[in-house]
Amino acid sequence: MNSDVGETLLKCVSCGREYKPSPRLFRCPRCGGLLEVVLGNPTWRPKGRGVWRYRDLLPQTKISPVTMGEGSTPLIASRLHKGLYYKFEGSNPTGSFKDRGMTVATTIALENGASSVIAASTGNTASSMAAYASRAGLRPVIFLPRNKVAKGKILQSIAYGAAIVWVEGGFDDAISLAMKLSEEKQKYYPMNSFNPWRLEGQKTLYYEVFEDLGKPPDAMVYPVGNAGNISAGWKAAQELLMLGVADTVPRFLGVQARGASPIADAVSKGLEKPVFVDSPETIASAIRIGKPVNWPKALKAIRESKGTAVVVGDDEILQAQMTLARHEGIIVEPASAASYAGYLKMLEEGLVDRGDTVVLVLTGHGLKDPASLESMVSNEVSVKPSIDTNELDRVLSEIWQHSAAVEVQKGNDARKPYPLYQNIP
Ligand SMILES: Cc1ncc(COP(=O)(O)O)c(C=O)c1O
Repeated sequence: MNSDVGETLLKCVSCGREYKPSPRLFRCPRCGGLLEVVLGNPTWRPKGRGVWRYRDLLPQTKISPVTMGEGSTPLIASRLHKGLYYKFEGSNPTGSFKDRGMTVATTIALENGASSVIAASTGNTASSMAAYASRAGLRPVIFLPRNKVAKGKILQSIAYGAAIVWVEGGFDDAISLAMKLSEEKQKYYPMNSFNPWRLEGQKTLYYEVFEDLGKPPDAMVYPVGNAGNISAGWKAAQELLMLGVADTVPRFLGVQARGASPIADAVSKGLEKPVFVDSPETIASAIRIGKPVNWPKALKAIRESKGTAVVVGDDEILQAQMTLARHEGIIVEPASAASYAGYLKMLEEGLVDRGDTVVLVLTGHGLKDPASLESMVSNEVSVKPSIDTNELDRVLSEIWQHSAAVEVQKGNDARKPYPLYQNIP
């Protein structure tokens, strides 16, 4: 980045010490805390489309951005709940919100002479990083937990030409290895979300929400894994307040999956620091993370915004995924459906009020994780072309009746195909 512009600094979120920006400084040399970008000359002057519409609130670079027009994703009004909106990040170029961060971090990596970018990933960071690296002419290396990444994300990464290192272990093992490699071999530039420049790009999601609504919502709901995205959103909301562009900030609400919920547990138990989970498990593979790197930033976001965090089970996540597809026309991957499952839980527990303006961040496209869709109840029928149209009409009516009946059931059972309608002669 161009460190001459303004007085941009890196500030430790733990001890507050400030440092001159450097693309390879990721931890506070004094206390080891996470660093955050403090912009030298922030200005609210949106112009153009996508992430770079907010270039005056992003790191200033001398080279042109490595971009694919990421951002400017739709904010969709819910038809099921008054005041609810979906920020559909699946419409980004690689199908997830990660592209917002990658356009910025890849530009910085390129400007600073990196030859190879690396990241550990539950899948979306990998495919996004690989896509932007291929546009920038950099070599992408991804560290994936063996057997734990959704098929669509692996295929994307293969297609973009990434070198894939399968790590025998979980995401937390994969990120430890990637961090070690980037610390010991400087030619590998790390792109995980402890890289504060990447989070600067991810801030733009919130700016878009603010502009689309014309004001801050009452609450933002994020599925939380490594906890970078919720932290970036909170930073953006504070910036708009500080600049006098907005006069309030929303509550930041986190959702984690049962089996991988160190941050939500820390919030509900009032702990200073999360108790990490050794072998996290959930169907929502993108948030199957036991040791979230950005936990200090995320706890600050949740606590300072007077937000909260809840835990949802896999059955609730799958049900939420089906409801979003069947009633809102939006296919998301399970981690993203966790936002909606969490919203329903928060409504039930009185943690959000009905009618409040709430934005659910739907982080990734459902087609990335086809296995999670395969178990959905299927309304299909096979017929001979000669079938009588009265008979066809009768069969179709039965399909809709059955479909409505399954939806009132709860949990996984609702997703099993109904055998009666298979192979009708
Ligand atoms: C689809 C999806 N949702 C949510 C998350 C969690 O985001 P974060 O790690 O920033 O908390 C991820 C991260 O991989 C993701 O891919």
